[in-house]
Amino acid sequence: MSKVTVVGAGNVGATCANVLAHKDLVKEVVLLDIVGDTARGKALDTWQQAPIDYYSTRLMGTDDYADTANSDIVVITAGIPRKPGMSRDDLIATNAKIVQSVTKSIMEYSPNPIIIIVSNPLDVMTYAAHTASGLDRSRVFGMAGILDTARYRAFLSTALDVSPKDIQALLLGGHGDTMVPLPRYTTVAGIPVTELIDAESLDAIVERTKKGGGELVKLMGTSAWYAPGAAAAQMVEAIVRDEKRIFPCCTLLNGEYDQKEVYLGVPVKLGANGIEQLLEIDLNEDEQELMNTSSKHVKAVMDVYDGMK
Ligand code: LAC
Repeated sequence: MSKVTVVGAGNVGATCANVLAHKDLVKEVVLLDIVGDTARGKALDTWQQAPIDYYSTRLMGTDDYADTANSDIVVITAGIPRKPGMSRDDLIATNAKIVQSVTKSIMEYSPNPIIIIVSNPLDVMTYAAHTASGLDRSRVFGMAGILDTARYRAFLSTALDVSPKDIQALLLGGHGDTMVPLPRYTTVAGIPVTELIDAESLDAIVERTKKGGGELVKLMGTSAWYAPGAAAAQMVEAIVRDEKRIFPCCTLLNGEYDQKEVYLGVPVKLGANGIEQLLEIDLNEDEQELMNTSSKHVKAVMDVYDGMK
C-alpha cells in the first residue's frame, strides 16, 4: 500500500496526517480540504517537519479530488465539530451531507479503497459512508473504540499510577454517552482490573469515559484532536502493515451481538483487507442490556438520517 488520503484538514485530519507521516508507513499522504489553502499549508508544514523528525512519507495538500486517485486507504474527518452544550447527534444535519458527498467524490477516483470514518455522529456517519460507497462492510468502518478505550485506559493509568501501556481494555456500542466500557474485559498486565481498584472508583472512571469527549469540548470550546487523530492513524497502520490487530471499531452488525442493521462498535481484526474478522464475545445480562440501549440510541439517529434522504 502506498497512498493514504485524509479528507478534512481541520485539527483531527491534520493531526492524523502528521501522525501518519511520523510512522513512515506509506509513500504518500494526501490531505484534502475543499475550503481554502488550509490543506496545502498543513501538508507543507508537516513535510517541513520531515528533516527534523526523519521520515520520507511525502505530504500533499489539495482541494481537488483528482489528487486522491487510487488511494489505498481514505480517512474521512470532514464535517463540523461539537461546540459546548452540543451532543454529537446535533451535528447530523450538516455532517451527513458532507460525509455522503465526500464518499461519492472519493469513489470517483479510487476503485476499491478502505474507508475509515471519523466524522460525527460517528456510528451514523459510518452508515452514511458505507451506503454511499457501495463497498463491503469490511472496507468501510468507523474510528471510535480506540479513542474511547484510550480515554478509559488513560484514566485507569492515572488512578492506579501504572503505565498506560499495561492497560488493556474493551469497549462496545455507539460513540456517545451510551457506549459500553467492559470492566470484566479490562486487565492490567493480565490482572483483572477489578482486583486492583474498588468498584466505586472503577464506576466513576467508566462514567467519566462515557462523557470523555464532552469533557474536552468543555475545556477547549471544540472537540478533541490529538487522541482522535492518532487513533485513526493507528487503524491505518494496522491495515498497511497487515498486523491483524484487535480493535473496537464501528461496523454494520448483521445479527452479531443480537443486533441487526445497526452500526456499532465491536472488537474486530484489522489487516490488509480491512475488517478480516468480527469477534463475538460473551456478554452477561447487564452488558447485553447496555449494548441493546446503545443500539436503540444509534438506531434512532439512523432513522433521523433516513428521514433526511
Ligand atoms: C471525541 C470526538 C472526536 O470523542 O468524537 O472527542
